[in-house]
Amino acid sequence: MRRIDLKVIPGDGIGAEVIGEGVKILKKIEQINGGIQFRLDELDWGCNYYLNTHEMMPQDGLKILADCECILLGAIGFPGVPDYISLRELLLPIRQQFDQYVNLRPIKLLKGFSSPVKISGPEDIDFVIIRENSEGEYCGKGEIRNEGSPGETAIQEAWFSRKGTHRIIKYAFDYAAHHSLDNVVSATKSNALNYSMVFWDRIFDELKPEYEHMNIRAKSIHMDALCGLLIIEPRTFDVIVASNLFGDILTDLGSAMLGSIGISPSANINPERKFPSMFEPSHGSAPDIAGKGIANPIGTVWSIVMMLEHLGLKDMSDLLMSSMSTTIRKRVFTPDLGGRYTSAEVGDNMRQELDRLSG
Ligand code: NAI
Ligand code: MG
Repeated sequence: MRRIDLKVIPGDGIGAEVIGEGVKILKKIEQINGGIQFRLDELDWGCNYYLNTHEMMPQDGLKILADCECILLGAIGFPGVPDYISLRELLLPIRQQFDQYVNLRPIKLLKGFSSPVKISGPEDIDFVIIRENSEGEYCGKGEIRNEGSPGETAIQEAWFSRKGTHRIIKYAFDYAAHHSLDNVVSATKSNALNYSMVFWDRIFDELKPEYEHMNIRAKSIHMDALCGLLIIEPRTFDVIVASNLFGDILTDLGSAMLGSIGISPSANINPERKFPSMFEPSHGSAPDIAGKGIANPIGTVWSIVMMLEHLGLKDMSDLLMSSMSTTIRKRVFTPDLGGRYTSAEVGDNMRQELDRLSG
């Protein structure tokens, strides 16, 4: 019996609702594969915890997480606690301290989704965004000068180290090589950001020649044009490598290209496996629909597909992907995708498909 220690942070708003469906899926996977047991340790960290304790997680929170295999997270943030506190005191410390420097976010139009973008078929939207996840615009450095005076000025720094930039761009090229993809695009904005993005481009250009013999086409595209091109000609993209901020923006755009912000998964990976990796849907806590039981669980379930693969459980990952894809093909959808089903009904349907496909 393989025992897998998972820390689960449902978080705020719809986070708990989508993670609830995710946990039921994990239990079903245990039933199907008698050789694995998920030891789930659910943690009540987040905005409610903050309102009671003035902390988003306990002082030794990272130590509590450190020895699990993976972290599964819903979403963090809720009205009543400023977003910069919830993000900076829970989510970003996990990503940064555990050196989860790769944020992998596939955007794939599965059969059953209807894209608001004009396309000729589902194969037109199938790309992956590889987002730098440890530094850049989200390094948290800066200051307010002359606070309260007419000269008050906010300075927000963006730190791009050679190590941090090189490793994420290299990861993107290696990902393309490994998956037989021949097109890598770097999201830049070096016309306006004359230090950070010029540096980013330089490292991209340094790495490019190493992959030429594999016939990988590599190109830098300014972020504004890139957003437009994704809508106009999505089929031309395979791998997009982007800084922390640009990657964040591109993924919600990508998810919306599939029909809803609630669809896209994300894996925060520490490739060296020195620390646990974290899996979470790309979306936030959606306060506007929280408590209604209608949050789309697909982003979470898809993140679990990625987690199972990361854990080396490829057969279970494939099985869950097939089950989820069948539910999507049947259009058993929550209202954000035009359906009439609740989160629980969508989750039930996926579990029925798991039973059917494994039986
Ligand atoms: P959001 O992603 O929570 O919501 C944007 C829109 O998409 C809303 O209309 C929402 O109803 C819809 N939506 C999102 N996920 C959905 C789902 N699974 N099913 C159906 N509809 C869904 O982004 P927003 O409104 O900017 O942020 C809300 C809160 O979430 C804020 O506190 C923000 O800081 C936090 N947030 C947390 C993230 C995380 O934990 N990784 C990521 C993004 C935002
Ligand atoms: Mg985001």
